Amino acid sequence: MSKLFSGIQPTGDLHLGNYFGAITNWVNLQKEHDTVYSIVDLHAITSDYDPETLRDQSVELAIDLIACGIDPEESILFIQSDVVEHVELQWILNSVTSYGDLTRMTQFKEKSQDKEFINAGLFSYPVLQAADILLYKAEKVPVGEDQVQHIELTRRVARRFNHTYGDFFPEPEPIIGHGARIMSTADPEQKMSKSGHEKHMIGLMEDRDSIWEKVKSAVTDPGGVEGEEMSPGVANLFTLLELTAPDDVLEGFKEDHREGELMYIELKEAVYEHLVSTLEPIWEKREDLEKDPGKVEEYLQHGRDRAEEIARENMREVRKLVGVRRRAR
Ligand code: TYM
Repeated sequence: MSKLFSGIQPTGDLHLGNYFGAITNWVNLQKEHDTVYSIVDLHAITSDYDPETLRDQSVELAIDLIACGIDPEESILFIQSDVVEHVELQWILNSVTSYGDLTRMTQFKEKSQDKEFINAGLFSYPVLQAADILLYKAEKVPVGEDQVQHIELTRRVARRFNHTYGDFFPEPEPIIGHGARIMSTADPEQKMSKSGHEKHMIGLMEDRDSIWEKVKSAVTDPGGVEGEEMSPGVANLFTLLELTAPDDVLEGFKEDHREGELMYIELKEAVYEHLVSTLEPIWEKREDLEKDPGKVEEYLQHGRDRAEEIARENMREVRKLVGVRRRAR
């Protein structure tokens, strides 16, 4: 079984982009892989956040993930800061990461734009991400399209480490799913994201009315696209339909589009209806989990123990290769 790692930040609510871009894949891959999934709170502190609520948000996200179908017995599910080895490996990997590569990261450029104070954590963020993946010697990483550049960097970091210190890390490959790039319904030129305005995301746990409002007012033809070509907004609605509705429903709407008979309101109603049926079981499962917070905490401790065991073992090897010591107490 190949090893697989992925992570998600606990700040902001989980949205359809996270779900269709990453989490559905996380769930589907559990059975045939050794899966390790992390709630990456140490990444979250590189952007504006509230220290008072971060801990709770991490646990809430764990509940969301389990409700979505992550099985905490099958997969290792844990909170990043519970396993300190991530930070130690990051420091070591800094020395085999190219400064030039880090300056080329689009996420860094986007997040540092218009900021008066650009913290160094934001800059070395991808090195911590590389450490997350390599600490478990993961071979595959299921992510949305926006993370592919970070995985490519991870490959380069692994290669340089292996070249410098001897072969140790695999060069991990991204696994990209169907919903790898879900766009904002309010502005289909930008990706759905937690960091922007609330209107740019549809939360997984949002109520029906608010989901309908956002789907109903989804931008379809901002500039009037001519001919057969689909505008980005319509294409985004089709993607959501493809991810939630049976094939015949999708085909029906595609045909309407081809024939020039597509009614946007009907498409929107169908998207809403199938989206809600997809989300309903998740909402129900979440309600059950909320009733037993002790159980979730137990899952997280179990996840931490299992993650820590692998992390400790691999770090012992890494320290040997690099020539640093940590005497056993
Ligand atoms: P994060 O927390 O921003 O997003 C979590 C996952 O959701 C995907 N995603 C999307 N997919 C499709 N359409 C969208 N609009 C959309 N928005 C987000 C992301 O691609 C991601 O897979 N740096 C990472 C977290 C991380 C990580 C890791 C990931 C830390 N260490 C190690 C993989 C491996 C991040 O900020 O994801």
